Amino acid sequence: MVAGNLKLGVDFHISMELFKDVLSYEESLFRNEEALHPEFLPDVLPHREDEVKAIADNIKVLFQERAPANLFVCGPPSMGKTVSILYVFKQLKEASDDVVPIYINCWENTTTHAVFVEMAKQLSIPFPSKGVSTEVIAQTIFSKLSKKSGVVFCFDEMDKSEDPGYLYTIVENIGKKSCIILVTNNRKSILSVDPRVRSRLCLEEMEFKKYSKGEMCDILKARVKLAFVPGVLAQNVVEKVATIAFEKGDLRTGMFLLMKAGRLAEEEASRKVAMSHVQKALSSMASISSARSEKLEGVEKEVYSTIKENNGKVTGEIYRMYKGKGGKLTERSFRLYLSKLERKGLIRTEDTGKGFRGRSRKVMAVGN
Ligand SMILES: Nc1ncnc2c1ncn2[C@@H]1O[C@H](COP(=O)(O)OP(=O)(O)OP(=O)(O)O)[C@@H](O)[C@H]1O
Ligand SMILES: [Mg+2]
Repeated sequence: MVAGNLKLGVDFHISMELFKDVLSYEESLFRNEEALHPEFLPDVLPHREDEVKAIADNIKVLFQERAPANLFVCGPPSMGKTVSILYVFKQLKEASDDVVPIYINCWENTTTHAVFVEMAKQLSIPFPSKGVSTEVIAQTIFSKLSKKSGVVFCFDEMDKSEDPGYLYTIVENIGKKSCIILVTNNRKSILSVDPRVRSRLCLEEMEFKKYSKGEMCDILKARVKLAFVPGVLAQNVVEKVATIAFEKGDLRTGMFLLMKAGRLAEEEASRKVAMSHVQKALSSMASISSARSEKLEGVEKEVYSTIKENNGKVTGEIYRMYKGKGGKLTERSFRLYLSKLERKGLIRTEDTGKGFRGRSRKVMAVGN
């Protein structure tokens, strides 16, 4: 029995009709909310048609047993680098078994050993999790791949590799039959690859330029079509979201705002997603990051507060401020903490292309 219906004879409890205004399933504002999730792979990629075609054309030559170019894909965060490659890989998998795509995220697999273990997993080669040397795993992989016409490797976020030694092993063993695609939003990170390997790779650069506001708007409109029931979001609301995303230089923010605004509208049992829901979603973004930052402790907290105090400055400068406050970390460890904070979504970094090996990055606290 529902508590609110109990006849207790005393008027001390207030009935809270928590679910009264809920929209029924048929009334939901979303038709497919997943279309706004970061890992969603859409059927069309507006404004990346040329890049997608160029990547696919390059891979195609493997079917004719010719050597493709190796690619160095760079460009600012959220400009469609990963999604374009996954889009090509999906179609490649559907088209043929002769050329095999292997996608590795170097942030999740930072060591050469981890990279090969992940490759083995993708190729369904069983290995015990411990006790097998990197060389044995690599050789088993190469022997399986030697039966194929070609292999396409994508090393995404390669700037996060602790050592890109796997590149040398791959080039040595299956160089001619492979296409290697390195992806990063830090162009100068390529300098961390051994110069001899770099020269063997003979990389062709492919830049993913920043989307214009209009392009971001087109992409978000396409997602709105997939995610929401028709007519729920007015044109000017999507445009507002695109403007915010453009100003933040981050398309992901646009997707997140659309999802959050849609949920807020549903909570209010509103039949439309209005400008006010976008505004509320925007302020909740800032509070999410501060709630997450409250959980930080020790050195991490010190690093984070230095970033907040020096929002938008470059890494070297922030490190100097940190040292000035008596911070004990070396510059290398400091950068590792930056990576950690970036993974937690508390900060965002942007390539400046300057400094030693291009390592100088602008650092922003998210939500600031
Ligand atoms: N042209 C596009 N069409 C549809 N969705 C896109 C397009 N470009 C980017 N997106 C979407 O925007 C989000 C960010 O794109 P993606 O992950 O490919 O960025 P990225 O360039 O790899 O960024 P990072 O350097 O941070 O890894 C994803 O959800 C992706 O699906
Ligand atoms: Mg990416």
